[in-house]
Amino acid sequence: MNILQVYKFPHPLLKLKSRLVTRFDGRLKQLAQDMLTTMYKERGVGLAAVQVGKPQRLLVMDLTNDLPREQGSTLRREPRIYVNPELLHTEGEITTREGCLSVEGYTTDIRRASRVIVRYQDTGGRLMKETLEGLAAVCLQHEMDHLEGRLFIDRLSPVKSRMVKKRLSRQARPA
Ligand code: NI
Repeated sequence: MNILQVYKFPHPLLKLKSRLVTRFDGRLKQLAQDMLTTMYKERGVGLAAVQVGKPQRLLVMDLTNDLPREQGSTLRREPRIYVNPELLHTEGEITTREGCLSVEGYTTDIRRASRVIVRYQDTGGRLMKETLEGLAAVCLQHEMDHLEGRLFIDRLSPVKSRMVKKRLSRQARPA
């Protein structure tokens, strides 16, 4: 189990379009596990491989990770791993407050589809299909945006997006 470095905006890597995963080997499984470990530590609910410097179409999620946890309690984790995900269908609308481990100190309301059907592969390369709703659907769409080099702040209006990015870039600059 390794904790990986999470790249932060405005790192140019985050703009890369991730490539298809073609090798379903031990390294892929290890990367997915390390991403989950990293996500748990950072208290995120989703993480795309490009955020840890690997522009591959791989993402992990666990919606239980932002549930309040009493000290000493063992909450059952629900890790999900998606390789080469593709949306087959989207419907409905939901607006939720989004944040991102690569965008520090900023959250905003984003509108997305409230129900999606996704086709993907597991780390063994098997084809899977799943319907996600509500926050799970939102999280998947947010992470899939990363695979296209898109951040949630790219979904704001052009004016607001520019403003927010300018502010975030200023904050990111080392003093
Ligand atoms: Ni994100």
